[in-house]
Amino acid sequence: SFVHSKSLEVLEVLHDLAVFVDEKGVIVAIEEHCDKQQALQVIAPKLGWTIGDVSVRVAAPGQFFFPGFIDTHIHAPQYPNVGIFGKTTLLDWLNTYTFPMESSLSSISKAKRVYTRCIQRTLSHGTTTASYYATISVPSTNLLSDLCLTLGQRAFIGRCCMDSLAPDYYRDESAATSIADTKATMDHIAKIDPTNALITPIITPRFAPACTRELMHGLGALQKETGFPVQTHISENKNEVKLVKEMFPGFESYTHVYDGHGLLTPKTILAHAVHLTEAEVDLIKAREGKISHCPCSNSAITSGTAKVRMMLNKGLDIGLGTDVSGGYSPSILEAVRQASLVSRHVAMEGDDDSKLSIEEVLYLGTKGGAKVVGLEDKIGSFGLGMEWDAQLIGLGNVPVDVDQDGIEEESPVDIFGWENWEERIAKWVFNGDDRNTLAVWVKGRLVHERK
Ligand code: GUN
Ligand code: FE
Repeated sequence: SFVHSKSLEVLEVLHDLAVFVDEKGVIVAIEEHCDKQQALQVIAPKLGWTIGDVSVRVAAPGQFFFPGFIDTHIHAPQYPNVGIFGKTTLLDWLNTYTFPMESSLSSISKAKRVYTRCIQRTLSHGTTTASYYATISVPSTNLLSDLCLTLGQRAFIGRCCMDSLAPDYYRDESAATSIADTKATMDHIAKIDPTNALITPIITPRFAPACTRELMHGLGALQKETGFPVQTHISENKNEVKLVKEMFPGFESYTHVYDGHGLLTPKTILAHAVHLTEAEVDLIKAREGKISHCPCSNSAITSGTAKVRMMLNKGLDIGLGTDVSGGYSPSILEAVRQASLVSRHVAMEGDDDSKLSIEEVLYLGTKGGAKVVGLEDKIGSFGLGMEWDAQLIGLGNVPVDVDQDGIEEESPVDIFGWENWEERIAKWVFNGDDRNTLAVWVKGRLVHERK
């Protein structure tokens, strides 16, 4: 069984399907009404494959293959802080928890521990692609690129650029050094993954308040020169919006600040977008900018409720972000669930049409995210010529683990066999966790398996 999004509204469930993945991780054939024997005896030979070289994975009853999740916004160096936010809101949260932690990861040994666990944990939750913010440190940003490549997670890696309004102990010396250091991290990726098969640099001005105009101009020019994507934060918190208004008085809005510096492009991922005006959404649409919706974070640090339905209705491409550690969970399944709940809060504030369906929130976590990172032709759903970034999900009564006493630990999603597939998937979305994530592949490589 395979489940994936065809569109925002349509989640397709297919049974007795066989998907054939070659040694490069590309889907080279898809057969309907196919069992294991037919796959091996009939189709594999047609592809020129020797049966002895083929490995087979069958989804047992109650199991299904699902596209890998795409986390369009996550801060790897904040991983040790998940769940630690007290009663802070964005600006005091940054100073209290975030800058000290990020700054401490210029220690390579510390960064290695943190980044390894962050990648392993997110893989174990089915995140096959992540758009990471690293820190200002070049060596530790390069280490994050190395580790993603080694552990097999598809990733966008951004050295965090900030030459203004940040503490002395954690700030770029100047716009010039910030840009030069960013180029150094791009050169490193060019060495380890020259075709960006798995790892791609992403230009990362932290957010307007932490960047001088000179830096933003320079990074905008770098985008134009290299064609690499951009990620930043936008309109997350009301005090932040007010600060941007004060710091950049010549600009009509927060969105105009990025637009005026060459940073609002079709390859730009804007995280949060909680307090955007409709005029700003129109400008983002005109520039084909992308949105990362971070519902866990927006609730945890009380930023607000993003108006996802309004942005979808205006035609924006939207994906989900954990925003670890503004967000408390490294799981995109949790972000899927929280996107549903936050949309219900928006509905309770007024417009019932704001509610997002299960189909819609799962789309945001997969195919929507693929569009946001510019990879919808490769990942986010299953199709001929696409790459095998997938997870095997097991529900109800599927023995997924054996505890120390040898007792089988069961899936937290109890299904009884009488539910239809729509109901099973609803149960997974609202009750599932990494115990249901039995195996994970990126580009055909098995990168996680639940023991
Ligand atoms: N705005 C600027 N930096 C950050 C960050 O690290 N996390 C969040 N959520 N918002 C930000
Ligand atoms: Fe963030």
